[in-house]
Amino acid sequence: MKVMVFGANGLVGQKLIMEMNSSYEIIAVGIGAKTFDGEQNIEYHRADITDSARINELLREVQPGVVVNAAAYTDVDGCEANKEKCWKVNVEGVENIARVARLLNAKLIHISTDYVFDGKNGPYPEEYQPSPTTYYGKSKLASENVVIGSKVRYAIIRTNVVYGKAYPAKASFVRWVTEELSAGRKISVVNDQFNNPTFANDLAACILRIIQLDAEGLYNYAGADYVNRFVFAQMIAEKFGYSPNLIFPIKTKDLGQLAKRPKNGGLKTEKARDRLGLKILGIDHGLEMMSQEADR
Ligand SMILES: NC(=O)c1ccc[n+]([C@@H]2O[C@H](COP(=O)([O-])OP(=O)(O)OC[C@H]3O[C@@H](n4cnc5c(N)ncnc54)[C@H](OP(=O)(O)O)[C@@H]3O)[C@@H](O)[C@H]2O)c1
Repeated sequence: MKVMVFGANGLVGQKLIMEMNSSYEIIAVGIGAKTFDGEQNIEYHRADITDSARINELLREVQPGVVVNAAAYTDVDGCEANKEKCWKVNVEGVENIARVARLLNAKLIHISTDYVFDGKNGPYPEEYQPSPTTYYGKSKLASENVVIGSKVRYAIIRTNVVYGKAYPAKASFVRWVTEELSAGRKISVVNDQFNNPTFANDLAACILRIIQLDAEGLYNYAGADYVNRFVFAQMIAEKFGYSPNLIFPIKTKDLGQLAKRPKNGGLKTEKARDRLGLKILGIDHGLEMMSQEADR
């Protein structure tokens, strides 16, 4: 079966391609030139998901059985500052993919976020009523509704604070912490934003399982440990051998971020564990796997 992956140069897209390459025929799609190395033999196409004619043409040419959408405008403050672009990519782009996937009878697997919630009552189960506080979160909730409303066969996977090694490296919390600490710089990290960080390779395995089981509907997938960012940063320092004394706690209100971050975010994962038979693993496991993964 052909599986088309949008967002192939992104963190999740890259991990997914690595995870699925031996099981399916992968067609990778990115907005620009292929930037990830490894997996050299993969068929790669360029397409901007906001270009509906191009998306229509590409999907019809390839005729995939499954489409995974890991493409998105993921800069949360950027979305707040540039709402038009955010909506165009995160909502209209998804509309373009969903419409054609439906016509081709392909299944669409779409990645969403715990930012669809306001962070007052996390970690959240799938059925909790969304109430986003950020424009990014609003756009991702709208993207979920676009998928559902399109009548395509779908699975939506909500996740949060995804970390892992990407090639070339993508902006991420783990990368920022390790880069700053390795340079001996002090960092201030919020101790009032809670999530359950998700190892990207495990998320990729979850997506693969959803394809294999042909599971449909809404699933949360995230790590086992519910921690604040300060604690996560300390765990990163410990694993990679940097001094935790360089990390200082700070409150969200003192950061002055453009987008109002959910504080008690995160996701409950019992449904993924019970129905997909997935192990929900903790931060120690993810960081250990990362530390063993050779740099390219
Ligand atoms: N990372 C997290 O912590 C996190 C948490 C919750 C949910 N998610 C969701 O997980 C999914 C994957 O995120 P990620 O972490 O892999 O993010 P990422 O590394 O930023 O990857 C997103 C990819 O989308 C591509 N893209 C952006 N605009 C596009 C467009 N108009 N047309 C085609 N491609 C476009 C980007 O291209 P460039 O490479 O050229 O920038 C990038 O490769 C997203 O849906 C995100 O909302 C992520």
